[in-house]
Amino acid sequence: MSLTSTASAPASRQTDPATIAAAVTGTCPDGLLRAVRAEVRRGLGWQDTADRVAAALRASLPDPAAILPASLRRGDPAGYQSHLLCAEPDGSFSISAMVWMPGQQTAIHDHVAWCVTGVLRGREYEEIFALADGGRALRLAARNVNPAGAVSGFAPPGDIHRVRNTGDSVAISMHVYGADISRLGSSIRREYVLPVRADGLTAPPRQQANVTA
Ligand SMILES: [Fe+2]
Repeated sequence: MSLTSTASAPASRQTDPATIAAAVTGTCPDGLLRAVRAEVRRGLGWQDTADRVAAALRASLPDPAAILPASLRRGDPAGYQSHLLCAEPDGSFSISAMVWMPGQQTAIHDHVAWCVTGVLRGREYEEIFALADGGRALRLAARNVNPAGAVSGFAPPGDIHRVRNTGDSVAISMHVYGADISRLGSSIRREYVLPVRADGLTAPPRQQANVTA
């Protein structure tokens, strides 16, 4: 594992965000960085900002080889990896790339600020949860299959989710956060170790659009 990247443990054991010192290990394309900066500086609300940053990312999704060296694009059997690409000096946003080997997943979690994700390679499966039973349990509320090219933006509250690489090859995604993860160590607000009710959503996963197809 690189000393300057974040390793996230498989299943429910997640690295303590407070212990992570993140430094830049990849490259954020200049054009994308300028586009994200322009949208953030509008000073809009979180959801509007996420929507506009999602449009900017959708318009210029980079090739994984342009943002990470080959050694970091392979993944790590120890758990999915988060590599910091840039952190805006004023702390208003930061951008990372995540690399997932097949079967690797996050804990169920939510975020401290708005977030935009774009899948660059492979396929990611996302489950979205709602609190149930007065906060003592979770219920599955939605699920999406996000292929390469899919971009989505969201803002708390209501962003409790879990992401897994359900494909048979390495998945790589790009993440823009409305927070400085180089200082926070992570954008995760809380991990939810709660039972998931069995009476949740039964509809099949929604297939997100692949804009690069
Ligand atoms: Fe997340």
